[in-house]
Amino acid sequence: MTLASKRVLLIVSGGIAAYKALELVRLLRKSGCGVTCVLTEGGAHFVTPLSLQALSEDRVYTEIFSLTDESEMGHIQLSRAADLVVVAPASADILAKMAVGLASDLATTLLLATDKAVLVAPAMNVRMWQHPATVANMATLASRGVTVVGPDEGTMACNEYGFGRLAEPPAILAAIAALLIGPRPLAGRHALVTSGPTHEPIDPVRYIANRSSGRQGHAIAVALQALGASVTLVSGPVSLPDPAGVRTIHVETAAEMLAVCTAALPADIAVFAAAVADWRTEAAAQKLKKMPGMDTLSLSFVQNPDILATISQGQPRPQLVVGFAAETQDVIAHATEKRRRKGCDWIVANDVGAGADIMGGLENEVHLVTEQGVESWPRLPKDAVATRLAARMAAVFAS
Ligand code: C5P
Repeated sequence: MTLASKRVLLIVSGGIAAYKALELVRLLRKSGCGVTCVLTEGGAHFVTPLSLQALSEDRVYTEIFSLTDESEMGHIQLSRAADLVVVAPASADILAKMAVGLASDLATTLLLATDKAVLVAPAMNVRMWQHPATVANMATLASRGVTVVGPDEGTMACNEYGFGRLAEPPAILAAIAALLIGPRPLAGRHALVTSGPTHEPIDPVRYIANRSSGRQGHAIAVALQALGASVTLVSGPVSLPDPAGVRTIHVETAAEMLAVCTAALPADIAVFAAAVADWRTEAAAQKLKKMPGMDTLSLSFVQNPDILATISQGQPRPQLVVGFAAETQDVIAHATEKRRRKGCDWIVANDVGAGADIMGGLENEVHLVTEQGVESWPRLPKDAVATRLAARMAAVFAS
């Protein structure tokens, strides 16, 4: 990948993840990209101007009221000399200031003055990321066209687990490259993605569900958006946050999911990653009571609509329809048969048998079944599977 002749203005704000900004600068320079760094006061607690200067081979800016800076290069000019402004790591504080439009230091002044695209890579404690204030700030920034990469899920420096880790530097580099090199391959395309389980009620307090976490479907929505698609994510009940900038519609049952998917058409791409319940029961109006002597309970089930088959065989049919096949045995044979039976273009098949640790887990090992045959991919994090899959989808639309 070459970013030669491009220049990034990299703002490094405060947070333990700031050390990863050094690796990002190294990767950018390796791909030929010029980097000018701005270090906030918070950022300077974690990395030194000297490290950034050595790696970027350029001077590092920290102070807004430095006469030298203003005489050599005014802040307006600094924000406009770059092709892209990147904030990595972006703390909750700087994201809030960006959303409000504060210009209280050099970094925020540059962000307000720039006429260039802005990419942010948030990093913070999971509770800060999930706080309604941050969620609202991210929605504001997304509505202004700010691109977001990450944060990733995992254990944080504070020992808490969840979303909040800075995206890995190669992923930030890929997002920068996507913005700087040419048009985004799925720009102007609409992608519909289903994700998560469905909940089928038994009575007002009980339901039937499955172990789907929604991680794979949500990651696919994010990956398609990163390639420029406008994405509608139809999600069953999950504990994941709505991906920034993705139109997310929440549903409970398979019937609701089908109705929302149908209403979201037309779409160019449809990916059905949800683990939809095959069966539903007639929900009792009142909570089912446990009566004395009642040793067993029988429920009768009716089949749910098959959303993938309905949309694959209906009109308007998306140009590329992708289904999933979670199997516990004969994965490829079942997936190949399923592709034909449902009428979709591709099936992403995986083994969810005992010990595979895939359903609800962080990694996936998939086989891509297409008309041309079967490709078996190595075991990868679910977001890497999503990135690969999105790139394959983009190739279908490249002409
Ligand atoms: O038949 P099976 O459930 O194994 O098929 C899995 C694929 O079909 C997945 O892509 C899933 O999202 C989709 N599906 C659906 N509606 C159903 C059942 C499955 O869209 N009722």
